[in-house]
Amino acid sequence: MAGCFTCAVSEADTSGARDDELRAFRSAAHALVESVVDHLAALPSRPVWQPIPDGLKSRLLDLPLPAQPATLDDLVAAMSGDVLPYAMGNGHPAFFGWVNTPPSLAGIIASLTAAAMNPSVVAGDHADVHLERTVVRWLAELVGFPHTPGGGLLTSGGSVATIVCFAGARGRALAAAGHDVRRDGLVGAPQLIAYVPAEAHSCVRRALELLGVGSGAMREVPLEGGRLDTATLCASIAADREGGAVPALLVGSAGTVNAGVIDPLEALADVASAEGLWFHVDGAYGAFGVLDTAIAARYRGMERADSLVLDPHKWLGVPVDAGCALVQRADDLRDAFSLIPPYLRQGTGAPVGTFAEYGLEQTRPFRALKTWATIAARGRSGIAAQVVRANELARELAALIESEPELELAAVPETSIVAFRTRPARCPPARLDDVNRALPEAVQARGRAFVTGTIFDGRETLRACILHPDTGSEHLATLVTEITEAARMLAAQVP
Ligand SMILES: Cc1ncc(COP(=O)(O)O)c(C=O)c1O
Repeated sequence: MAGCFTCAVSEADTSGARDDELRAFRSAAHALVESVVDHLAALPSRPVWQPIPDGLKSRLLDLPLPAQPATLDDLVAAMSGDVLPYAMGNGHPAFFGWVNTPPSLAGIIASLTAAAMNPSVVAGDHADVHLERTVVRWLAELVGFPHTPGGGLLTSGGSVATIVCFAGARGRALAAAGHDVRRDGLVGAPQLIAYVPAEAHSCVRRALELLGVGSGAMREVPLEGGRLDTATLCASIAADREGGAVPALLVGSAGTVNAGVIDPLEALADVASAEGLWFHVDGAYGAFGVLDTAIAARYRGMERADSLVLDPHKWLGVPVDAGCALVQRADDLRDAFSLIPPYLRQGTGAPVGTFAEYGLEQTRPFRALKTWATIAARGRSGIAAQVVRANELARELAALIESEPELELAAVPETSIVAFRTRPARCPPARLDDVNRALPEAVQARGRAFVTGTIFDGRETLRACILHPDTGSEHLATLVTEITEAARMLAAQVP
């Protein structure tokens, strides 16, 4: 990308107050870059995470509203001393918590550029708008999802992308039933039903609640050992129809949050198309796993989804926030969201509307630049290699767990999330759940590794999510040691 506008309008202003401000900005920004690089360089040798010292915590919480302006140098000093060192921990290669990655370096640079431009990415002939269209197409191409212009947009994350997709699904299902939800709300609307696997992320339920479908209208998708019980699902759909409800939505995960399991997407797609349901795939964590040829076949059916959610701020390492909603038919979103008041008229009548016509936000940040930069800095092959490596490490961790008598695997990893439990030798079985529940915090406080917990198969379970490009075998070994030592310590405590 190179070039500039052909017409210079005025000479650059090189004197006066603005010039002084920019000089101060240049110097403060250089100093900040030094701090940021020092921080990134020091990360691997520091604790993964430690509680913020009490004094600093109170200082941050009790900061008075400043009466007088601070200089940029003051702000850089505060950020470098009081903020940067006390991070969440996801920059460290021994961070295995939730689904959080370190930021890509390209994404950090792009974030500065995007902030310097500060556009509202809605419509118009400016670089940010065109780049978002390209980035959305790239994301679709990366995961093999069909794409036509308008068929997706960037969001703040997977949760909002899910709401965007479900608004499309709701509108389509109710329109087919002769109900105009945008005009009439849900008054007089038939009850929509959503079929959702038990392991679906909570954002699915939250979106259904928010859109007035209600969690009471969720039916569990019968999955036995990862296989779809099609007959039971179809019977449940038929019973709902007979009861006067409108079966509308079928959800599958391309990588569950608890154990990284890929649902039987092909079988789900078959039922959705046979029954006329909107098929939604949650690929927020796992969709990029399709780039690993060893498991790509497990994703078959994802490309048939009516909507697919991706989170570039997860496996790709785009700095938060960057989610993405992709849909087969752009008009499903435009029908749900398009509303152009006179004060926002812009390119009306264009075949592909403004971004605000396809989602929730009017003023939209320039998420595309950090996403573009992150993808461009690695290329498809670099991203694929990182995905393959993460999945390999997950299998390596699973093997370590299996060879450690005081640990047990909860599920064989399919992607880069490993669910497991501890069973310290001296721990009475009745206390195992308590020990597993308390373990993440105990491990986190020791500062050498970071892991989080969940409930899986009805039992307290640990889950290690491997997404950091620098994670290696040594970090897996540290995790196992930390878990076993902390578990023994907890087991030895009198309840
Ligand atoms: C499988 C899955 N879906 C959806 C989400 C929600 O995405 P976000 O946190 O970006 O809103 C997550 C977050 O971890 C997730 O793991």
